[in-house]
Amino acid sequence: MDQRPTLDAYLDDTAPSLSQGNDLATVISRLARAAVELAELIAAGPLAGIDGRHYGTNCGGDAQIDLDVAANALMCSALRNTPVAAIVSEEAELPNILDSEAELCVAIDPLDGSANLANNISTGTIFSIRPRSRDALSSFFEPGTAQRAAGFFIYGPQTTLVLALDSSVDVFILDRKAGTFVLIRRGVRIPAHAPEFAINMSNRRHWNGAVQAYINQCLLGTSGEHGEDYNMRWIGSLVAEAYRILVRGGVFLYPADTRRGYREGRLRLLYEAHPIALIMEWAGGAASTGRDRILDLSAQMPHQRTPLIMGSAPAVRDLDIRHQGVQPLFESSDAPLFARRGLFL
Ligand code: F6P
Repeated sequence: MDQRPTLDAYLDDTAPSLSQGNDLATVISRLARAAVELAELIAAGPLAGIDGRHYGTNCGGDAQIDLDVAANALMCSALRNTPVAAIVSEEAELPNILDSEAELCVAIDPLDGSANLANNISTGTIFSIRPRSRDALSSFFEPGTAQRAAGFFIYGPQTTLVLALDSSVDVFILDRKAGTFVLIRRGVRIPAHAPEFAINMSNRRHWNGAVQAYINQCLLGTSGEHGEDYNMRWIGSLVAEAYRILVRGGVFLYPADTRRGYREGRLRLLYEAHPIALIMEWAGGAASTGRDRILDLSAQMPHQRTPLIMGSAPAVRDLDIRHQGVQPLFESSDAPLFARRGLFL
């Protein structure tokens, strides 16, 4: 018989020693139940009446399909009547206040990478849990270090939960027959080095000089500064990239670039970068914009974007060093800084 603890047993064991532990356990367990339902819906797809219909765009300008709407409804209703004061969701323009006296606040991307579903590629739900500060809304403007827990579900070949709780990163797999998550790995540590990078190379001409220089060295392989050949991966699904890094190490970059709408990067601070950065750091890796540690950043707007560089700590540090002295991108795409810095091209 399998002796691995279920998520609920793990939470019963871990929660009592944590401040607000029972509240955290309730929220995580409710999200997990919703993720089981969402995994079924995704797996059934057209058989469950889901056909990837476009609903238009969400408040951030990303295309929204029927499953984004269904995922948002599932996750938000799972958080009703829990110790959650307010939710910031990628799919809703404004924060949703549930109970202004409750102790926790949740930022969530209900279905990250949903554009990949048409291609049968992994997608995920990313969440961040923080304590309510003086009032529910201002909690979201605290830095990422305020997070008490974070995690993501991956809807892929397996439905997986990566959970950062109590300074540890632990991994669970959905036992589909039992409908429960089961612990498979405790205390994940990101390998300190792997010659592997992930970036959307099609944007190369729009990057700043520091990113150009780093990637050029990777491409030069044994004849470049890194002195070894690099492999490249780009799935276009943040949860899948983050999971690969937890398993194999390496570095992922979604930098700011000179395209309109990308000058602060593409990914969202509250429900993508903050939770993923907590996971990276608690697993011994790092996450940065190239200039600042992601967990030190505070959002000024619910859907604020940020550049994100994450992965094995030495690679992230290398990129931080390369950013020193390279000015942030110009606000006008007419005069991108890197275009004048021929030495980085
Ligand atoms: O935020 C949505 C997302 O799909 C991420 O999961 C992924 O890392 C990124 O966008 C991919 O962006 P692009 O299509 O620009 O490469």
